[in-house]
Amino acid sequence: MVQDRPLGVAVLGSTGSIGRQTLDVIARSEGKFRVAALCAHSDDATLSRQIARFRPAFAGLVDASAAERLAREWEGKVRIGAGAAALTEAVELDGVDVVVVAVVGFAGVRPTLRALEVGRRVALANKETLVAAGEIVMALAREKGALLPVDSEHAAVFQAIDGKPKESLYKVTLTASGGPFRNTPLNELKDVTPEQALQHPTWNMGGKITVDSATLMNKGLEVIEAVHLFGLGLDQVGVVVHPQSLVHALVEYTDGSVLAQMAVADMRLPIAQALWYPERSPRYIERLDLTTLGRLEFEAPDTERFPCLALAVAALQAGGTMPCVLNAANEVAVTAFLQGRLGFMQIPRLIEEVMERHRPAEVTLENVFTSDAWARDEAARRLAALTL
Ligand SMILES: NC(=O)c1ccc[n+]([C@@H]2O[C@H](COP(=O)([O-])OP(=O)(O)OC[C@H]3O[C@@H](n4cnc5c(N)ncnc54)[C@H](OP(=O)(O)O)[C@@H]3O)[C@@H](O)[C@H]2O)c1
Repeated sequence: MVQDRPLGVAVLGSTGSIGRQTLDVIARSEGKFRVAALCAHSDDATLSRQIARFRPAFAGLVDASAAERLAREWEGKVRIGAGAAALTEAVELDGVDVVVVAVVGFAGVRPTLRALEVGRRVALANKETLVAAGEIVMALAREKGALLPVDSEHAAVFQAIDGKPKESLYKVTLTASGGPFRNTPLNELKDVTPEQALQHPTWNMGGKITVDSATLMNKGLEVIEAVHLFGLGLDQVGVVVHPQSLVHALVEYTDGSVLAQMAVADMRLPIAQALWYPERSPRYIERLDLTTLGRLEFEAPDTERFPCLALAVAALQAGGTMPCVLNAANEVAVTAFLQGRLGFMQIPRLIEEVMERHRPAEVTLENVFTSDAWARDEAARRLAALTL
């Protein structure tokens, strides 16, 4: 691609784990990209440092009082937005070519849709958006042709498919590290603490996704994400536990050939891939040295100890707004677990109870927002009563 100016990037969730790694990739892109907008939730101190370093034309915070502090600090120098509207404002700005959606949770839905609507390339790290509103997002993405996965497994699948016809795909297998409790017996799981759950063995990530990795909900969300992204049937997406996190996904073709993507566990690779596509990016990560790897292990996931994976599959089978409800109940449950208000093994029970009370509706934008709000209320009500 001939490029006469750096591509403008809006980073939504810039203060988080993916957001910070995205800025690292941009900083070392040799002028290929520039930061056009930065947004986060409430961390004004980090956002202010990022503004000073990257000088975007616009920055926004969802939290009103944090946005006010930031606006006072940058008055007359940078335009500051406040509230959830700041995220959509950022993607609409003139000079934004690429939007990296790295906010956590359902908050990704509206800005992702808006970015696609106004013709931006979307590099999507936020898996919750596809879980809650995959049908709507993918319909828009197919029309606009501009959605690239940042989740490492999906970026791996994307590379292994590399434009090959869908009819030639037999199966996609996503790998899971197994999390910190891969070998913890069932009777000990009820006592694990947030501090233990936040010790991920191979990836350094934000709190919510780290807990999701420990419950295996993360892999469940990724199965739903893969079904939407690649237009697959549920029977075409499998999961295998691979503790070394070096093989990120495998794609099996109808002729029995299996293509795997390998790299060290470093999210700057899939971030850079999505930014640079269709070119290959410069190297941001350590090279993989096969002679020093030792053993690569693969085993089946244990859905008795980790019921969240099966719950996600059940939600997809139920269809309609059920995955949206699964996601919302999970967000409430994980927050409660991190606050010490819910036990580790109560996470799947709370989600299941909320799902049992939901009658899935057709996936329209209105139904998605109604179902999300209903599931959060229902989960919060059950949590308050602790009828688990
Ligand atoms: N981390 C990884 O390696 C990884 C890998 C694959 C996929 N992902 C996905 O990428 C997304 C981000 O993960 P992360 O690990 O980077 O999370 P994180 O470290 O917790 O960062 C979350 C970011 O989102 C912002 N945020 C939180 N709630 C928000 C809201 N309601 N509205 C707008 N912004 C909000 C936070 O702002 P404040 O700092 O101001 O709170 C922060 O910038 C998640 O969907 C996750 O599943 C992450």
